[in-house]
This record gives sequence, C-alpha cells and structure tokens, in this order.
Amino acid sequence: MGARITGWASAVPPTVVTNADLEARLDTNDAWITERTGIRARHVGGVTSALTVESGRRAMAMAGVDPASVDLLVLSTTTPDQVVPATSSSVHHELGLSGAAFDLNAACAGFVYALVVADSLLGSGFRRALVIGSDALSAITDQQDRSTAVLFADGAGALVVEGGGPEPLLLAQDLGVDGSAARLIYSDRGGYMVMEGREVYRRAVRIVVESVGRVLEQAKVKLDDIAVFAPHQANLRIIEAVNARLGFPMEKTAVVLDRTGNTSSGSIPLALVAAAEQGRLRDGDLVLLSGFGAGMTWASAIARWGAPPGRPA
Ligand code: UT7
Repeated sequence: MGARITGWASAVPPTVVTNADLEARLDTNDAWITERTGIRARHVGGVTSALTVESGRRAMAMAGVDPASVDLLVLSTTTPDQVVPATSSSVHHELGLSGAAFDLNAACAGFVYALVVADSLLGSGFRRALVIGSDALSAITDQQDRSTAVLFADGAGALVVEGGGPEPLLLAQDLGVDGSAARLIYSDRGGYMVMEGREVYRRAVRIVVESVGRVLEQAKVKLDDIAVFAPHQANLRIIEAVNARLGFPMEKTAVVLDRTGNTSSGSIPLALVAAAEQGRLRDGDLVLLSGFGAGMTWASAIARWGAPPGRPA
C-alpha cells in the first residue's frame, strides 16, 4: 500500500525573542548562545492547539483537500493544552476533520513516530492523514532559567499524507527509547523543563549517527541519494557533529534553529517545510529525518517527498 505527501505548512506564534532580548534580562549573552547552540531568535507565547490548527489548515489548503475527507489526525506533542482530553480532539473539531484523532508523545522524536504511525494506519483502511508536530515549550520553560530559556520555544509543522498510489511513503524507519535515561530531560506535572544538557548532547550525537546508519542500511540507500536531511533542531553543534561523523554535507541539511530555537515535536517538520519552501525538495526526492529527545526517545526515517495533486514540483 503506497502513500504520498501532498501538502505541508508550518506555524509559529508572532512573538519573537532575540538573544539581545534575553541578554537584557538574564545572566547570558549573545556570544554564548550563538556559539554554544547556533540559536539567534525564537518564537514564544504560543498555544499548542492554535499552532496545530494553523499549520494543519494551511497544509490541507495546499493539498486542496476537503477537511471532511481527512479521516486521521496524528498529533505529536509534548505540551498538550490540557491533560484530558487530547489536544487532537479540539483540533479535529475546529478543522472539521472526520474519523480518528489522537495525541502521541515521544518528545523531540515524536514527529517521526507520528509519521510512521500514520503511514501504517493508511495501510490498514484510513484514507487521508494529517500528521502534525506541534509544541509550545515556552509554557513549560522557566523564563528566568538561562539554561533552558535560551533554548526552548514554540512552533508546529504539518503534512498531509494520502493513502494509495504505487510508491511507499517510507523506505525505512528506526524507532526506539531508552527509559533508563528518562530523568535527563523532564518536566513533572505542573513543573518546568529540566535538562542535563551536556549528557543529552553526548548521547544525542551517538544515537542519531547509529539510528541513521540503520535506516540507510534498511532502505539500501546511500547518503548521496538523500536530497535533504531534516534533523531535530536542538543545537547546531549537534547537527554539525552528526554530519561530520556521517560524512554528510551541511548544504543538504535543513537548519531553522537559528530562528526557531528548539521546538521539540515542531522542529523536524519546521525544518522540512522550510526546505520545501526554499525550493530544495522535488517530487520523488528522498528525505532523511532523525530526532531524539526526552525519554530518551529516538526516531529516524527515510521518506519520499511528494507534491500537491496536479502540481508536480
Ligand atoms: O531537544 C531535546 C534534546 N536536547 C538537546 O539536544 C540539548 C543538548 N545539549 C546542549 O545543546 C548543550 O549541552 C547546551 C546548549 C544545553 C549547553 O551547552 P554546553 O556547551 O554543554 O554548556 P554547559 O551546560 O556545559 O555549560 C557551560 C557553562 C557553565 O558554566 P561553568 O560551569 O563552566 O562556569 C554554565 O553554567 O556555561 C554556563 N551556561 C551559560 N552561560 C551563559 C549555561 N547556560 C548559559 C547561558 N548563558 N544561557
């Protein structure tokens, strides 16, 4: 059973916080943030459901699909609007979708988890899916804590994936979790994000390199065949270290963290959508996705990029 990407869009809240803004109120400075992370600005003050609705609506408009014909919403989020019910239920209503909707929490690896789950459901009866990664981390970040406030922010990205057709959406996938590392990144109920940055950094580079190696082998694809690599947008140094070990060029890597910060579930789709909007992706291109985060979870996939119906790119 094939499936195909036919629409994409992203959304960020309007409030921008620059490094200069943070410098004015925290014991930090632009040079530290830029050199250690690559982040220069981020969007904050968002609400997960609103970002999800905005990105989803625009992705469906691009694909030219009637919302009522979308029978599956898989929403990856770590910051649901409330504990119960799932944020996807209000989004489902607001967008006028049909069929099923649920939230999925696999932190910064969540969007790739969501894509894999949606693809598998499209292979078992669902017809048309919205796959969205959306987070408003600013709501669970202590804005007075320089170790997290400079990093975490808000954003969402959405894909429309339609079942059917001759080609599979995913050529390979690798999902995993190491729960023994669950306290390296956490936010207890009602609390703020806490992270052991240095240890997460160390593990992230190793995990992503290994996981990418597994999907390349599974898909029998060479790095040269990948048009764009969209890694989780946590830290430019992590992305550069991963690419150096893989031997993959930065020019073919999607980077938005300089202007978005780390948006968890939003980060990979924000990077992918930016690459597509820059004209760096054509119908049929192979994209490599890889995320890691709280859990610690990881997820990599090789997917075939698509195009809106009747508009091959
Ligand atoms: O999305 C989930 C996955 N998360 C990640 O991938 C994050 C992975 N980790 C990282 O990206 C990096 O570890 C950080 C960006 C979080 C931190 O960078 P680092 O190079 O590992 O710095 P560090 O935590 O080792 O701190 C170095 C120094 C410390 O001071 P001392 O102890 O050397 O005196 C910190 O207190 O930098 C200090 N520091 C800051 N200084 C200025 C920490 N935060 C700041 C800050 N501004 N915002």
